[in-house]
Amino acid sequence: MIIVENLVKRYGSHRAVDGITFEVAKGELFGLLGPNGAGKTTTIGVLSTLLPADGGRASIGGHDVAGDPGGVRRLIGVVPQEIALYQDLNARDNLLFWGRIHGLGGKALGTRVERLLELVALGEHARQKVETFSGGMKRRLNLAAGLIHNPEVLFLDEPTVGIDAQARTKLLALIGDLAADGLTIIYTTHYLEEAEQLCHRIGVIDQGRMVAVGDKEDLISQIGDEDRVRVQVPSERHRALTSAAETWPGVDSVSERRGKLEIRVADGGAVLPPLQAWLAAEGLDLAQLEVIRPNLETLYLNLTGRGLRE
Ligand SMILES: Nc1ncnc2c1ncn2[C@@H]1O[C@H](COP(=O)(O)OP(=O)(O)OP(=O)(O)O)[C@@H](O)[C@H]1O
Ligand SMILES: [Mg+2]
Repeated sequence: MIIVENLVKRYGSHRAVDGITFEVAKGELFGLLGPNGAGKTTTIGVLSTLLPADGGRASIGGHDVAGDPGGVRRLIGVVPQEIALYQDLNARDNLLFWGRIHGLGGKALGTRVERLLELVALGEHARQKVETFSGGMKRRLNLAAGLIHNPEVLFLDEPTVGIDAQARTKLLALIGDLAADGLTIIYTTHYLEEAEQLCHRIGVIDQGRMVAVGDKEDLISQIGDEDRVRVQVPSERHRALTSAAETWPGVDSVSERRGKLEIRVADGGAVLPPLQAWLAAEGLDLAQLEVIRPNLETLYLNLTGRGLRE
């Protein structure tokens, strides 16, 4: 449904999107995961025909974004990062407005607006001005506005920023339902948990480049699927623990890391009994023990040398 090849977008000499390539299948929920300034919004801007590309190509449903922007626009809905609603209009009038922009009208538009208000659970607030809405309500109405013309592809640019955990959970469930109904979605976020929970496949974007693409398991296997067990013991015991750990089942390596010993092992749980027995025999306490499973955060750190949350 979406094909992106070597896409480049520059602002002056700065390459905000620096040759990215990925594809999204029909009905897929594709996450574009990256920190502030990674190039997520710029990518969405080019794909939604708002920004001209400086290199590469992209097409949506077979329509080239540069060659046939009208064809692309008919297929896509965009839910922008900045809320795009009229504060002094009520919820229903906002949706009617966006519907008319898309050339809809009459009874069909009225019915569509009521259905969408129900979908985003704002039916009871249809006549309420947007300026009185909570952050979560605005985000839901923003989503409804992007769906008004029944698009086949939806771009969601950080749709959960600024809302509380409960509102976020509801919004994520709604987005999951939309994908289950066959909508193709690109979902940008800098929240790892959201990408992990919600998306079928994830592209990790950093400084305008796609540093990894795949489903969660693919991505994690790129960093190796070993657990790391970290344990703090006095430095004079490091050598003894290293020798002991090397004899335990499944242990691949033992190394020192910031004053702690790090045991790389196929299954962290399996070394806990011998480790605890060793600590007890040495008369050491068990408090400083940590099992780290590979996750997207470690992948991101490995790929970029930085944490996603920085
Ligand atoms: N209109 C613009 N003019 C100049 N530089 C820009 C413009 N818009 C974005 N940039 C720069 O391009 C880079 C990518 O920005 P972009 O907004 O695409 O990132 P993002 O991944 O969406 O970040 P965020 O998570 O903060 O929304 C950044 O370095 C940004 O400063
Ligand atoms: Mg952005």
